[in-house]
Amino acid sequence: MALPEKVTLPSLLEKKNSGRKITMLTAYDYAIASLVDQAGIDLVLVGDSVGMVALGYSSTVSVTMDEMLHHCKAVRRAVSRALVVGDMPFMSFNCSREQTIRNAGRFLQEAGCDAVKVEGGQGSDDSEAAVRAIAGAGIPVLGHLGLTPQTAARVGGFKLQAKDAQAADQLLSAALRLEKAGCFGLVLECVPAPVAAEVTRRLKIPTIGIGAGSGCDGQVLVINDLLGLKGDFHPRFARPFAQLDRTIIKAVQQFRAEVEKGTFPSDRESYAMDPKQLALWKKKWSKKK
Ligand code: KIV
Repeated sequence: MALPEKVTLPSLLEKKNSGRKITMLTAYDYAIASLVDQAGIDLVLVGDSVGMVALGYSSTVSVTMDEMLHHCKAVRRAVSRALVVGDMPFMSFNCSREQTIRNAGRFLQEAGCDAVKVEGGQGSDDSEAAVRAIAGAGIPVLGHLGLTPQTAARVGGFKLQAKDAQAADQLLSAALRLEKAGCFGLVLECVPAPVAAEVTRRLKIPTIGIGAGSGCDGQVLVINDLLGLKGDFHPRFARPFAQLDRTIIKAVQQFRAEVEKGTFPSDRESYAMDPKQLALWKKKWSKKK
């Protein structure tokens, strides 16, 4: 399938305005990012979910700037068509304005990302100010409202957000404020479908949903969930489009069995030596014995 041209911020807006859906997936390393890019996905998010799905942390709070930049660099080397978005980790933007801009800038200057993502902006956090500062410095920024994993403990864990009319209203107001603050798009995570659809209708910028129904302008999933590389947490919206966990376990078991039986590697999978050279070498060693 022929892929459309390189993705740009205007092309995302164009998709929203013409009703064509936007696709985004997470990736954390060169190999997977390259496949995601070849498959024609619009945005590759180096999410701080890397902490939970690739680094084994119990939450995203432990992820550092250096860890994020390390993974962003690997993804950047692999991706030529999609936009690469680096997720700003906990405490990298809830700090001084100067430090926030410096941290966001590192994603572009050091890791080659096209944009950054910032969680929050609803309630008492400083994310709206961070978004304004980052966008004001000329750095494209994607917002993230609804369930925001970095502060999930504050709302009692990984739960559906904006469930009642008041909370839905707060979400809508926060979305409008983030748009005004300069976001080029907004991730809506784990909110009722009608709320996400209404926010999408009211915003000029695109929304990208995860657990937010089909009324968003686009959809994002964590790549491990999509591939069926199951972790400990299985939200209902994380449809596995493959079951690679089974495939991987089967392949590894087969490798183990064949090594133990002595059937791997075979002659075809080994390198022979020139017979004359081998004879010469053996002779040399037999004399030394
Ligand atoms: O870190 C992440 O993977 C995310 C997505 C779930 C949107 O923020």
